[in-house]
Amino acid sequence: MNTNPPIPIAKHVAINLGEKLQLISDHWKPRLVAEMNDYQFKLVKIQGDFIWHDHPQTDETFIVMAGVLRIDLRDGCVHVKPGEMYVVPKGVEHKTYAENEVQMLLIEPRGTLNTGNTTDGRTAPNDVWL
Ligand code: NI
Repeated sequence: MNTNPPIPIAKHVAINLGEKLQLISDHWKPRLVAEMNDYQFKLVKIQGDFIWHDHPQTDETFIVMAGVLRIDLRDGCVHVKPGEMYVVPKGVEHKTYAENEVQMLLIEPRGTLNTGNTTDGRTAPNDVWL
């Protein structure tokens, strides 16, 4: 029986979300940090108000790392604190709001736009790796 611990190999590098977040200095511009099958993991910092939109083809997951995220829904809102997550169901209108800066991880299928079914000046480019 081999009791030696496995040897770390340079190409196997854990993704440190806190360190990645330090590389982001703007708001509302998601950055890709990993992919799993057809899903993407995106880090983003936001502050202020966004626009109402929905994603007709997919649910959207928000995992808050820092700050308090408010997700407005047409029939109310939900506050998501650090260490908490929320899934907005497919087709449900929503709008994110951050009174103070929020740092979060988004999980959604490749090709999902931050403004969902609408495009305007707030639409961020996809597939920008950090
Ligand atoms: Ni959305």
